[in-house]
Amino acid sequence: MAFRDKNTVITGGASGIGLQVCKQLLANEASKVAIIDIQDNTEDISKLRAAHPSQTILLIKMDVANRQGIEKTYAELKKAFGSIDIVVNVAGIFNDQDVQRTILVNLGGIINSSLAALNVMSKEHGGNGGIVANMSSVVGLDPMFLLPVYAATKAGIINFTRCLGTDIYLNRTGIKFITICPGATITDMFTNFTEKILFADMGDESYRVLDRLNKQSATDVSRCILSALEKEKNGEVYIIEGKRLFPMEMKSYWRGIERELNE
Ligand SMILES: NC(=O)c1ccc[n+]([C@@H]2O[C@H](COP(=O)([O-])OP(=O)(O)OC[C@H]3O[C@@H](n4cnc5c(N)ncnc54)[C@H](O)[C@@H]3O)[C@@H](O)[C@H]2O)c1
Repeated sequence: MAFRDKNTVITGGASGIGLQVCKQLLANEASKVAIIDIQDNTEDISKLRAAHPSQTILLIKMDVANRQGIEKTYAELKKAFGSIDIVVNVAGIFNDQDVQRTILVNLGGIINSSLAALNVMSKEHGGNGGIVANMSSVVGLDPMFLLPVYAATKAGIINFTRCLGTDIYLNRTGIKFITICPGATITDMFTNFTEKILFADMGDESYRVLDRLNKQSATDVSRCILSALEKEKNGEVYIIEGKRLFPMEMKSYWRGIERELNE
């Protein structure tokens, strides 16, 4: 997939990994970038606009947990852009102390945005198809004792995205779905980390874990996300660790009806 002239949507694009994805898409000549975020970060967005005066950059202040708001946002974006080709769902939080909000934003937000995107991008509804990348984490693949609530939402994202990333949907909609699982990345998500873990008395343990983590930058991760988008492999799950992209071989434990349908 070339990014030139593409119309794109990035949730959580106002900071961290999402902002770097926006920068990379614009540098690769995407035509339009819509950022859906609860914060506006006018400083960085103004810099982006100044650096790319001929490309459209919209910032829509919206909570991904707000299903109706997200549906309305996508309907408006379709009108404004004509079509949407690429969606990168990055918005997420880490706060295991706030169980409800973590589920609603991380898992709920990805589901809301993916389904709203499906609706406007699908060939069944007059769209051109395209690709949706959903942000999970390495802790969605393997247990990480410090953050069980966050990890559960990230595991949910992997399976939700893999369900949609099957040929049955692709043939109907023309939309490919991929999952991105970065390892530790230096962003604001780690601010006050020990105050946001589920069990406050594990603070010392969490410092030891954080120290040992192999950390990468948001720019490294965003470069790998663009490279995953370029591969266009429907249903693929990628780890991004040590600044590199690794496709995962996902094991199948259950011989389900889908396999029989495909035979
Ligand atoms: N930083 C890491 O180590 C790491 C590792 C793996 C996965 N991730 C995932 O990457 C994504 C981005 O995280 P980051 O590290 O860049 O953190 P970040 O806090 O810098 O960025 C998150 C962005 O999402 C936005 N956001 C939060 N809640 C939102 C909501 N309800 N609606 C709309 N926007 C919302 C924030 O305003 C922010 O701009 C998250 O989904 C996170 O879980 C991060």
